[in-house]
Amino acid sequence: MKVGIIGSGGREHAICQSLKNSNKTDKIFCFPGNAGTKEIAENINLDLENFESLKSFIFDKKIDLIVVGPEKPLVDGLVDYLENFKIKVFGPNKVASQLEGSKIFTKKLCEKFQIPTAKFGIFKDKDSAKEFLKKTNFPTVVKADNLASGKGVYICNDENEAIIAIDEIFGGKFGKASNLLIEEFLEGEEMSFFTIHDGNTFKSFETAQDHKRVLEGDRGKNTGGMGAYSPSRLINEELKNKIINKIIKPTLIGLGELGTKYKGFLYTGLMIVKNEPFLIEYNVRMGDPECQTILPKLKTNLSEILLACCEGRLDKLEINWLNKKSLCVVVCSKGYPEDFDKNIEIKNISKIILKEDDFLFHAGTINKNDKTYAVGGRVLNFVTLSENLRSARDNIMQNLEKLNWSGGFYRKDIGYKVIDK
Ligand code: AMP
Ligand code: GLY
Repeated sequence: MKVGIIGSGGREHAICQSLKNSNKTDKIFCFPGNAGTKEIAENINLDLENFESLKSFIFDKKIDLIVVGPEKPLVDGLVDYLENFKIKVFGPNKVASQLEGSKIFTKKLCEKFQIPTAKFGIFKDKDSAKEFLKKTNFPTVVKADNLASGKGVYICNDENEAIIAIDEIFGGKFGKASNLLIEEFLEGEEMSFFTIHDGNTFKSFETAQDHKRVLEGDRGKNTGGMGAYSPSRLINEELKNKIINKIIKPTLIGLGELGTKYKGFLYTGLMIVKNEPFLIEYNVRMGDPECQTILPKLKTNLSEILLACCEGRLDKLEINWLNKKSLCVVVCSKGYPEDFDKNIEIKNISKIILKEDDFLFHAGTINKNDKTYAVGGRVLNFVTLSENLRSARDNIMQNLEKLNWSGGFYRKDIGYKVIDK
């Protein structure tokens, strides 16, 4: 089977690696991929906004299955476009992708189906949003409605911080914004719950916990994710059933009423308050870096799973996992999530010798004349599987010392709530 993967991050390198391990995959194309995928697949540079040129390439190379990694092409309707040409695509369609593409779409669905979530208000202009702050309790949460690469959420401790957030969002920091949300701050512990869907049935696809803030101790600005571990310490059968029955099933019913089905990965971002789940956000894809911690634990052939989803026969398939814990530390370019320098060489990368349970997934890297350069904010993902998270993290720290890269930084405390008690 020939497979094409859309995307260039650590998530896509991890997907690429899992597919590569499968004896069903003969050839992989990555659009555009990174220096890591280049080792195991063919990287293709195409204008991904131009769906037609992608379609022509797929026909030309006779690609059997397309896997969409990031949210943007999903929200833009790539799946609908390719399926019109009878191309098999793993990912949700445009209507279903609004679960991530519009926070307000999801909040309205929550309201209609009594899905537990933070109380919220929707504001169309600065003045009404600022007026509302006068009767708000702090901390409060201000969110851009549209896609913002995980950065359009502000946890505001006082009115001044909230005013800055409102000005930045309506000032166009995340593209043209016509709405914002102000929502109740939920005090609890976060958890990411993943499911995989074929339009008719779904199965759970493990849990994880990521660290979104840039600084140790979960302080500083929000990022795409500085590290993650799997499984979440919070998961138990009772909680899993609540998440499925109170949140995921009503969401699928809501999509059904809009005349659509869900196919692809669904990432349910939750706040767990006293063993009760509250929906924080949906993402219509795997998490990054959660994916890098989860896929190395997968025992079942990934290409079989993805193909089964595209052919509506997920119910016939059993998904099996290694009984290990997994931790991922993300190495970022200095300056991220603000401005950072590009094209900085990562000199020691060839000195990293991976053991059996170690994985190194690239994100913002390119390869030029056999050298690896950082070109993105998040650059490398170090993952280790182990019986316990502490030894996984210790092992990663040893690898990171060998890397000794002056252009980057990383958090040393990933998993601290579970490990350093
Ligand atoms: P989101 O992009 O909606 O997942 O938000 C990014 C991060 O902001 C989440 O992972 C949470 O850490 C935090 N967050 C978002 N909404 C809330 C909320 N209502 N209460 C507390 N924290 C929140
Ligand atoms: N790790 C957060 C995300 O993928 O959105």
